[in-house]
Amino acid sequence: MPVVSRPYEPADAEAFFAIRSATYGNGVPVPIEEQVIKYGRPYVAELNGVVAGVAKMNEYVVARGAASIPNAGIAGVAVSPTERQSGVGSALLSWLVRHAKEEGFPLTSLYAFRESFYRKFGYEVCGRKTHVICPTPRLPKLKSDLPVRRLMADDWELIRPCYETFARARSGFHIRDERRWQEVVGARDFPAVYAFGDPVESYAIVVHKIDFWERQRVAEVAWSTEAGHRAILAWFAGLGANKTHIDWTEPSDSPYLARYLDQGVEIKVDGPIMYRVTDFVAAVNLLKPDTVGEFTIEIRDELIPENVGPWRVAFSPNGVIAEKSDHADLSLDIRQLSCSFMGEPSILDLARNGLIEVRDRSALIQASHLLTPSPVNCWDFF
Ligand SMILES: CC(C)(COP(=O)(O)OP(=O)(O)OC[C@H]1O[C@@H](n2cnc3c(N)ncnc32)[C@H](O)[C@@H]1OP(=O)(O)O)[C@@H](O)C(=O)NCCC(=O)NCCS
Repeated sequence: MPVVSRPYEPADAEAFFAIRSATYGNGVPVPIEEQVIKYGRPYVAELNGVVAGVAKMNEYVVARGAASIPNAGIAGVAVSPTERQSGVGSALLSWLVRHAKEEGFPLTSLYAFRESFYRKFGYEVCGRKTHVICPTPRLPKLKSDLPVRRLMADDWELIRPCYETFARARSGFHIRDERRWQEVVGARDFPAVYAFGDPVESYAIVVHKIDFWERQRVAEVAWSTEAGHRAILAWFAGLGANKTHIDWTEPSDSPYLARYLDQGVEIKVDGPIMYRVTDFVAAVNLLKPDTVGEFTIEIRDELIPENVGPWRVAFSPNGVIAEKSDHADLSLDIRQLSCSFMGEPSILDLARNGLIEVRDRSALIQASHLLTPSPVNCWDFF
């Protein structure tokens, strides 16, 4: 019997929460009064008429430079331990990708347990989170004139403009709503928010560790100016006074890497996020090009044949028009299209490595003026 995927109904609660708990809750039963969906849209997959798989779709708005892209963040994917490896997870994901498109999300994203599983549904890793693990004696010795102050959870509006400038200079970051900000600054483990400059030019969010000579993780940093970034690094020297290392994450355009990398500092690329374009035409229509150009492109997409094209894409600061074409100068897979759309690896990086078929090089250059190279990252885990 085929797998049937559909939106969650109240009658699914018992099975839904039991499957979630087996994966995300140590198997601890969820009492009936706590079987509540707090946010996001829940879904189930039935095998032989019985709920065997669950997932949620969270609604986000993702920055792509100046453009705002409605994005379906897929979370909490789980299949009952008795039904795994029989196609339930694959059927649910295939359905969710199309459902996201039909619900008006031209983009979807997720954090994978194994990236290779989600590639089957057209997702690809975009961007590189640069995790810096710096022994405290190797922190750069810097001075900053920016005042530092500790903010309270209610003060999140003071750091929002800094975060949004940081996000809009890149791609993939969520434009956070108030609920998300409350989670970031008001989490149960009492994060402390340190802001530099007034108005705020940078900030660091830290859950202080009481133990001496341990590694201190910095949960989140963002900056809107060079002086702001320098202020964070200067302040790390004091934060690290009784710690072995400070560790934090920057996007791949990391200004730390650009000028302070030193021997003994460990750099890891971890926690990657995957994106998938579900609706090519709707996605490019949302972009905000600042030049004029035109190119043709075809896309291989087994799950969403409407994306295939071939397309002629014309763009200018007035908008983007994508219409059917009779030929294509560029040809690529939906995974590479998703990276190109987000900006990292860029369409130029992919072409350089032979991951895109380029029949006319000028089409590639034109495409790179719409699908501009950009660091991709996301500070929100879901
Ligand atoms: C990850 C998870 C959701 C996948 O669901 P699933 O129903 O087991 O997935 P599928 O059966 O569709 O696919 C799993 C594998 O079984 C294989 N498979 C699918 N149908 C099969 C069948 N009839 N016979 C044999 N193998 C099959 C798939 O090809 C796939 O192989 P892969 O390991 O090479 O990718 C599920 O295993 C799970 O809940 N895991 C624990 C929670 C978790 O990690 N969630 C993901 C968070 S991002």
